[in-house]
Amino acid sequence: MQEPTDYASLGRQLAALLDTRDWLTNAAQTSAFLMQSLEGLNWVGFYLQRQPETLILGPFQGKPACNPIPFSRGVCGAAARSRETQRVDDVHAVADHIACDADSRSELVVPIVVEGHLWGVLDIDSPQPTRFSAEDQAGIERLCQTFVSACDFG
Ligand code: SME
Repeated sequence: MQEPTDYASLGRQLAALLDTRDWLTNAAQTSAFLMQSLEGLNWVGFYLQRQPETLILGPFQGKPACNPIPFSRGVCGAAARSRETQRVDDVHAVADHIACDADSRSELVVPIVVEGHLWGVLDIDSPQPTRFSAEDQAGIERLCQTFVSACDFG
């Protein structure tokens, strides 16, 4: 288990880091920031809804990943369909999980909704089972709000 993460501090650091309104730059910076700041991760990145019912790989940190992902499949697809965060303690127990990296054991996927439209999802993977607590989920959801607030998506 990890030490509790100071998400208030991470939120201040992320807000200071995102000093442009460009969503592409900010998405790249956010994925790098999370990879550097959170312990025990093997992949962090964005999938973007740029086609109907489909997620396209966006800025990320980690190994090359699966692309595209239809809304009908995987943990990312479930987050996109439901617009609810998916927190998976053991991806091996999820039949629908898309294994981009056999090392991944737990996963957190946060939908990112901008002005009522699903813009994409933030996907975070860990090689540790049960890496993400409810506190991590709440903290990372707040960091996603910091990201959204920093960007122009037009
Ligand atoms: N595991 C995800 C696919 C994306 S990779 O983890 C980067 C899923 O089941 O949707």
